[in-house]
Amino acid sequence: MKISRRSFLKTAAAIGASLAWVEPARGSRVHWNERRDLYPQGVASGDPDPHSVILWTRRPFAQGTRQLLTVEVAEDETFRRVIAHAPAPVSSAADWTARVLIGGLKPARTYWYRFTDADGNGSRVGRTITAPLPTDPRTVNFAFVSCQDVNEGKLNAYRRMIYEDERAPAAHQLGFVLHLGDFIYEMVEYPDEVKTRYDRTIYEVARLPEGPKAGNFHIPLTVDGYRAIYKGYLADPDLQDARARWPFVAMWDNHEFSYQGWQSIQKAGKERPGQSIKVAANQAWWEYLPSRCKKVSGPSLETFDPPAVTNVAIEKWDENGLGDEPNNRTAINSLIGYRSYRYGKHLDLIITDQHSYRSADPFSDPSLAKLGGDEFIDMAPETLMQALDGGRAFNGGNPPAEVSFGDAHVPNPQKDKPPQTILGATQKAWFKDQLRKSTATWKIWGNSEGALDARSDPQNLPPGLTKEIWPKDTYASMSPPDYGMAYTERAEIYDLIRDAKITGFAIVSGDRHSFWAGYATSELPPGKFDPVGLSFVGASLSSPGTMEATEHNLSKTDPLRALFLADRPDGAKPDWTHNMLLKHGVRSCLEYAKSFDLERARSLSNPDLAPHLEFVDLGGHGYAKVQLSADEMRTEFVCIPRPIARSERPDGGPLRYRVLHTAALWKSGERPQLRTSVLEGDVGLAM
Ligand SMILES: [Fe+2]
Repeated sequence: MKISRRSFLKTAAAIGASLAWVEPARGSRVHWNERRDLYPQGVASGDPDPHSVILWTRRPFAQGTRQLLTVEVAEDETFRRVIAHAPAPVSSAADWTARVLIGGLKPARTYWYRFTDADGNGSRVGRTITAPLPTDPRTVNFAFVSCQDVNEGKLNAYRRMIYEDERAPAAHQLGFVLHLGDFIYEMVEYPDEVKTRYDRTIYEVARLPEGPKAGNFHIPLTVDGYRAIYKGYLADPDLQDARARWPFVAMWDNHEFSYQGWQSIQKAGKERPGQSIKVAANQAWWEYLPSRCKKVSGPSLETFDPPAVTNVAIEKWDENGLGDEPNNRTAINSLIGYRSYRYGKHLDLIITDQHSYRSADPFSDPSLAKLGGDEFIDMAPETLMQALDGGRAFNGGNPPAEVSFGDAHVPNPQKDKPPQTILGATQKAWFKDQLRKSTATWKIWGNSEGALDARSDPQNLPPGLTKEIWPKDTYASMSPPDYGMAYTERAEIYDLIRDAKITGFAIVSGDRHSFWAGYATSELPPGKFDPVGLSFVGASLSSPGTMEATEHNLSKTDPLRALFLADRPDGAKPDWTHNMLLKHGVRSCLEYAKSFDLERARSLSNPDLAPHLEFVDLGGHGYAKVQLSADEMRTEFVCIPRPIARSERPDGGPLRYRVLHTAALWKSGERPQLRTSVLEGDVGLAM
């Protein structure tokens, strides 16, 4: 199969690319003198297909508003066989960033590229890899990562990933890196204002040109604010080396816009109308992460051309919870992030946006505080959360008038509201269509948010430990507000997978700052555990996780402390029973905290609590590697110690553990089955 020049030009025109076409190979005719200082954010490539890829750099100039660089693409690292040579415009309107689409490349090939300005000042050399053809049966390898806070940590995980990839046999080397968001954290601490948080040293990232703060955190309101943060993040040498080694396929999570933001509403503590802030966030993301995402403002790859919007409060919502306000619609559609990629015979990667179209948080109505239950740390009755999630559609359209906890009752605040949606109606229809149409062996949902239930069984606590009594008839949900509690929407998607007899479905996600492996199921006991696929969460590259926060925040005298931390009598670091709580339940935790006897603790496991979980480590950091073949999905968690300081070692420092989850491809109607094996290190209480 050969792509014609005409069809490439059509594709290129559709995304408005500055484009280059391949020529016969010859030696470079560019006088290139490497000056990394003049390209302070390095180089990058994004969204490869079998014949083309987008190349990126940033070359700021002190004078003028627009300059031309030259980009060269070669078949060899020394540029003796240059096959493309093209102008690459940079302009102040795009913060001096450049994007060029190179077409006519060969599938599944490694190429090298570099940029040079008119004076011969050159960028570093980058490496990129095109996608295999849809008929190519070779094994697919990729990594998925998320949550790279460089304000509070270091990116030793990328160093480790590079070190291992350089030494891997060709058939095991990564084809691309899937970045599932929190590429930046828009909430910035200044080291002169705050020195530490939890175990972390605060590192300088950026100074924002604008004012507001939420606690210790400065928050951007303009494109210059977001740009300053991207520049600060991309100064990190390990991130730069990773972007120069592999093409990235990226999707934003929450922090590329706003901590608790949704649609165009900015929320970090308090909510504020943020239509112009959402557009600014999209513009900076588009400028700094090369992708094929469609922007609505125009077809050029040179500048974003932000649409004009006004910040006005949204007062009306449509039947799917989408803010019915023109500026909101313009802002959230100014850049469409959801998209899918075919990558060889075995992978359809379907990527969704979890924040731009989601409905209002159904779980936080202030009236719910009157229900009590405060003693039960981070636990909410699962039956209550299911009712709130379902809104007016709950229980076949007969939602309860009241919701309760023990003897306390309040009117159901969601009784007349639409069921929660994370995808929104338009994106969800697209997503379902992608699932139905997919012909690849594996259908991988690249989802920035975790989809596995986090729950516990406080109904099994011995009497007297707490003053309040947990209701007998419900588990406790401990999920963050992600797909762990999007019961209605999740069931809709999983039902489609079952009804359409789709096999090879797996979710890869991030956001939770922890490693999870398990099964995609609509219900858990006492409902029907009926998995339709696999579900994974990759840990943060660097951002602090739950266990680190708990070590600092949980009182030594809390009556439920043993459910989260088991204090060693010798004063050593406590063991993370929180992992055991989610997989085995309260009885196992109480036993473990008393005897430190793992076998005895596991013998008290509640088998109905978490049949969907094989592995959970709320204290993990690192990355995950996926290998897909005709008959198997292998997912490896590479876990590093808390990345507080940059490792000086070429391998990025020691590993905590490496664990492999393998699943054979199942037939429609069969139950997927994971086999988990610890390849090295100590996984603690994660299994
Ligand atoms: Fe994060």
